[in-house]
Amino acid sequence: MNIKARDFKKIVILTGAGISAESGISTFRDANGLWENHKVQEVATPEAYARDPQLVWKFYSMRRIQAAKALPNPAHRALINFAANAGSEIHLITQNVDVLHERADITGKLPPLCMHGSLNQSRCTHCETVYLDDHAYFDLDGNYAPSRTELCSAEERTRDEYLHHYKLEYAHFLPLSPCCKAPLRPHIVWFGEIPFFMAKIEKRLRECDLFVSIGTSGQVYPAAGFLQVAKSHNARTVCINKEAIPQSHMIDVFLEGKAAEIVPDFFA
Ligand code: OAD
Repeated sequence: MNIKARDFKKIVILTGAGISAESGISTFRDANGLWENHKVQEVATPEAYARDPQLVWKFYSMRRIQAAKALPNPAHRALINFAANAGSEIHLITQNVDVLHERADITGKLPPLCMHGSLNQSRCTHCETVYLDDHAYFDLDGNYAPSRTELCSAEERTRDEYLHHYKLEYAHFLPLSPCCKAPLRPHIVWFGEIPFFMAKIEKRLRECDLFVSIGTSGQVYPAAGFLQVAKSHNARTVCINKEAIPQSHMIDVFLEGKAAEIVPDFFA
């Protein structure tokens, strides 16, 4: 079946770690992926943060450093170009926290719903205020050495909430929130927590006529169930991935290969 994104009116795109693989960001479940090198329970759960917040901040500092070194690739850029030029309504949902969709989108045409949060934000553990924050609090050797990672744009840095962040104080080598002087945590959805924007996402899934899944292994719910929701509301379904995913039977068109090569063609 030879279809292209431009043939559709309401498009929902779901992206996962595979779309950023060619930008040099580690995926989670591929060989040498993030979860092969780290135990999820030790770095990406509320219990892990309660037990050892420094270890959690070391992990997310490392991820902030890695993400800041990466650049958007042709797949990220193709989605932005499509949104800027196509007549279709297009919604982007990402499980990625790497900020690469936003960094590809200098005109703000395609703001992603970051359902698993964002590496350039932190949250007060007391009142839940969210701050723009791109500090790596620990260096790659695990030493407390707060430094900027350039994950926030210059424009974002001049906004009030970011400037407040400079007034943070530190206790026991943990960043504290300016609002309550309570520990900050990464604004990331950890295992056992509910992803953000679910009501909005479900509405968009019900209304779309094309659902495209890009670079996700289809193993983590609720995102892994989006294909089925869109399909059951009569959307056509396309999957762009390097390998088959468990939901294959619900996919109308499977485009196997690298996102950076296939996405620009499908969204031309
Ligand atoms: P995974 O690491 O589970 O899956 C990445 C998928 O991308 C795999 O199916 C790869 O085959 C595929 N892939 C790798 N390189 C690719 C490339 N260049 N082009 C196209 N596809 C490629 O990552 P996700 O599915 O994003 O959640 O993982 C979902 C969630 O699980 C993450 O958001 C994270 C993780 O635990 C949280 O941290 C809450």
